[in-house]
Amino acid sequence: MRIVLIGAPGAGKGTYAQIIRDKYCIPHISTGDILREEIAKGSELGLKVKSYVERGLLVPDEIVIEVVKRRLEQPDAANGFVLDGFPRTLEQAKALDRMTRVDAVIHLVISEEVAVKRLSGRRICPVCNRVYNIYYEPKPREDEKCDYDGAQLVRRPDDEPDVVRNRYKVFYETFAPIIDYYKKTGRLIEVDSNRSVREVYPALEETLRRDG
Ligand code: AP5
Ligand code: ZN
Repeated sequence: MRIVLIGAPGAGKGTYAQIIRDKYCIPHISTGDILREEIAKGSELGLKVKSYVERGLLVPDEIVIEVVKRRLEQPDAANGFVLDGFPRTLEQAKALDRMTRVDAVIHLVISEEVAVKRLSGRRICPVCNRVYNIYYEPKPREDEKCDYDGAQLVRRPDDEPDVVRNRYKVFYETFAPIIDYYKKTGRLIEVDSNRSVREVYPALEETLRRDG
């Protein structure tokens, strides 16, 4: 199954991509995670994208498109994948269609108010990228260490309120043309993501069964 999850910051793309990854044994490909890993390594790519990611700005299309293209060429993506955070512009959506077939595009619809609360409570494992939240399940342990590998959980620098506000602005600037593009080709599925994971995931999976 080839699945794309789109939605505003905090909509739950990473959360549901990890559930889908574990359930369907397909890789979770997050452009945000890949870019953050490159920044942490201090690679040439990391140095190029650092200032964009830290300010909540979009990394230029040609860079992100190349990153995704290379990742989709890896053998583990041959039988399917769940893409999180890509495409974010019409150019990226068109490039994705040139790279591969996409079975379902799921738009996780979220209000800004709910998303801001989620992002302010988010904690991430720097080792396995699992996502926790101090306000919602799965909550971190009291010492804020990962349940799987014991690593100390961290906050993302771009979850600071000012940067979050900027990420929203940037998201909505390029959002409408992508939605139109997938609507026109009959591939867009909308799921109300303001609810709890326990309510949203069955609805999301139902759409996959219908389309997959
Ligand atoms: P990226 O990492 O993709 O960030 P984002 O789109 O801003 O999305 P988030 O990761 O913040 O939110 P999410 O929807 O995954 O929510 P999550 O599941 O964690 O991108 C970061 C940066 O990289 C960009 O700003 C840009 O600079 C660059 N970049 C990346 N891709 C790019 C591209 N294609 N083009 C150009 N630049 C690109 O959930 C949030 C929290 O809510 C979690 O703590 C979760 O546990 C909690 N939560 C509580 N209740 C729920 C619930 N019911 N459902 C889901 N989550 C819940
Ligand atoms: Zn971990």
